[in-house]
Amino acid sequence: MYKYIFFILIVGIIGGFGFYKYRQHETRLKMLDEISQYSEDVKFQADLGKVLVLYYSLDGHTKDIAERIAKISNGDVLPIQVLDTYEKPLVYWKSKKYLDKKLYPSMDRLPSLDGYHTIFVGGPVWWGTMALPLYGLLDNLSFGGRRVVPFSTQASNYGNFFVDFAARVKNANLLESENFNNWPSDYDTQLNRKIIIWLNKLSYVDEPEESEPEQ
Ligand SMILES: Cc1cc2nc3c(=O)[nH]c(=O)nc-3n(C[C@H](O)[C@H](O)[C@H](O)COP(=O)(O)O)c2cc1C
Repeated sequence: MYKYIFFILIVGIIGGFGFYKYRQHETRLKMLDEISQYSEDVKFQADLGKVLVLYYSLDGHTKDIAERIAKISNGDVLPIQVLDTYEKPLVYWKSKKYLDKKLYPSMDRLPSLDGYHTIFVGGPVWWGTMALPLYGLLDNLSFGGRRVVPFSTQASNYGNFFVDFAARVKNANLLESENFNNWPSDYDTQLNRKIIIWLNKLSYVDEPEESEPEQ
């Protein structure tokens, strides 16, 4: 009997490990396939007006994308600051609990959007949706009719991030979003190309309006 249980256990462990390795391999192949789409050089040629990039980042991946967007578009970059803290490993448990109970953080201070035409808003995917600080921001900020562009970073799957974003964002002219799986740093050039191709699609067709959008 014990021999039988031991055998089942070993087969289970080997099978589980094999499946995990297979999924890892599959994810890597998908990543390389996506990266291969960005083999040709591209130039940034979008007119986005004055750009602000708002982001929340726990581990630095979203910060990196936010800074690249700001650098390419000659915009400003600002972290989203909320009145709550998130630290690993507790964040896994805390964020799950708070998301399930819809307990979203209050804002430390709201960013001023004065003078900006295009506002990028980015953050990591947590449990298939937006990280809690993005809920805090969207619940407290009205975009005054400005162009708003969401972006996410994630390990492999952005889930409902953009659907949840669109459902909560207030008074925004929502433009095409983009999502970023975490690529190794060897693919820096391809990552910049991916961002430039996306930004070029967001260009004003006409000049930015002279008058300021309402606050
Ligand atoms: C609490 C938590 C939940 C996460 N949930 C997901 C998820 O559902 N799907 C996914 O692909 N990645 C998930 N991740 C991975 C992050 O989205 C990913 O590493 C992201 O790029 C981190 O961004 P940051 O470095 O700016 O914090 C999760 C990470 C954390 C900390």
